[in-house]
Amino acid sequence: MTMPGKKQLEIFCGTGGVGKTTLAAARALHLAKEGHKVLLITIDPAKRLKQVMGVLEQEAGSVSTVSLANFFPGNEKTIDVILMNPAATLKRVATKKGNPESLDNPIVKILTRPYGGMNEIMAIIELQFQLDEKSYEHIILDTPPGKHFIDFLGASSKINAFFDGSFIELFKLFGSKKDKNPGIFKRLISSGIKKLLSYLEKVTGQGFVEDFINAIAGIYQNKDVFLSALAFERDLKRREFCNWFLVTSQDQIKEQDALELKNSAGKIMHDDNYLIINRSLNKSLAAWQTKPNEPINKLKEAMLKRQNRLKGMGNESFKATLEFPEVSAFEPANQVADLVQTWESI
Ligand SMILES: Nc1ncnc2c1ncn2[C@@H]1O[C@H](COP(=O)(O)OP(=O)(O)OP(=O)(O)O)[C@@H](O)[C@H]1O
Ligand SMILES: [Mg+2]
Repeated sequence: MTMPGKKQLEIFCGTGGVGKTTLAAARALHLAKEGHKVLLITIDPAKRLKQVMGVLEQEAGSVSTVSLANFFPGNEKTIDVILMNPAATLKRVATKKGNPESLDNPIVKILTRPYGGMNEIMAIIELQFQLDEKSYEHIILDTPPGKHFIDFLGASSKINAFFDGSFIELFKLFGSKKDKNPGIFKRLISSGIKKLLSYLEKVTGQGFVEDFINAIAGIYQNKDVFLSALAFERDLKRREFCNWFLVTSQDQIKEQDALELKNSAGKIMHDDNYLIINRSLNKSLAAWQTKPNEPINKLKEAMLKRQNRLKGMGNESFKATLEFPEVSAFEPANQVADLVQTWESI
């Protein structure tokens, strides 16, 4: 098996329930166990990492330090974990930039709620922030299910469009309520924005419109943070910078999903991409004795066929295929600790 080199950033993606969070946690623990300084970030909306790592809900958004002793008794090393929380990320970057109040606004709060539509950009901003701080040798990113996040990574031009100057400048001017530039103010009126805002003001009250303008102005003030996501897209293509792990599960027919995911990630992913077959029954199947005419033999054959098809797909389309066994441990921490062994043996 080709051993994946250890990279500064390692990204786990895949469809729902295939084991991304479990295997990302196991990878992070493996690197930490070897003595590396590791940060594990999850954007998993189901927050299963919380369960796996024993991180409390109220710690969401902040960096929690977890002892490896929870997984390997007596081990005194630690690992840092962040359960992504967009509002906390914004606060962190605004504070670093010296204007912590700039984004403290009710509209921004709505936008950065877990389902407020800014999850992806906030995750990239958090990653960039952590990479800039240079406190970690490895950052492991556990992504939400599906190809949405990958699509987003490849579409940072949308961010550029969002910050397309004139629109923001107009709002800023309008927000400052100083009519220093009558030319632009006239354009504002003719553009219909003023009409729209005065209409909104009638419907929602003065407070909303002010908050809205302040939100736009606040985001604008911190726009370099958002725009740095563009540079990040270039980094993602650098082989020496990141590894991609596409996770699929043997117990579900997910090979098509994995291929689709790979195709949609093609434009942002380089060739150091690994297919992970999780919950592999390879060893058990090999040891399973059945007689050719026994009915159960059909099940065994079908399982073997599926396994081989998955492997074939992996060998054809990925740098290497990594197999993780179905583990029987019940407690999440024990389950992850068992899977660390597989990372160690690769
Ligand atoms: N190798 C394994 N052996 C046994 N159980 C596993 C294994 N890998 C994952 N599981 C179990 O499968 C379930 C889903 O795992 P996990 O939450 O890691 O998947 P996910 O891909 O992150 O899901 P989501 O798409 O919801 O984020 C969990 O209950 C986990 O305990
Ligand atoms: Mg998950």
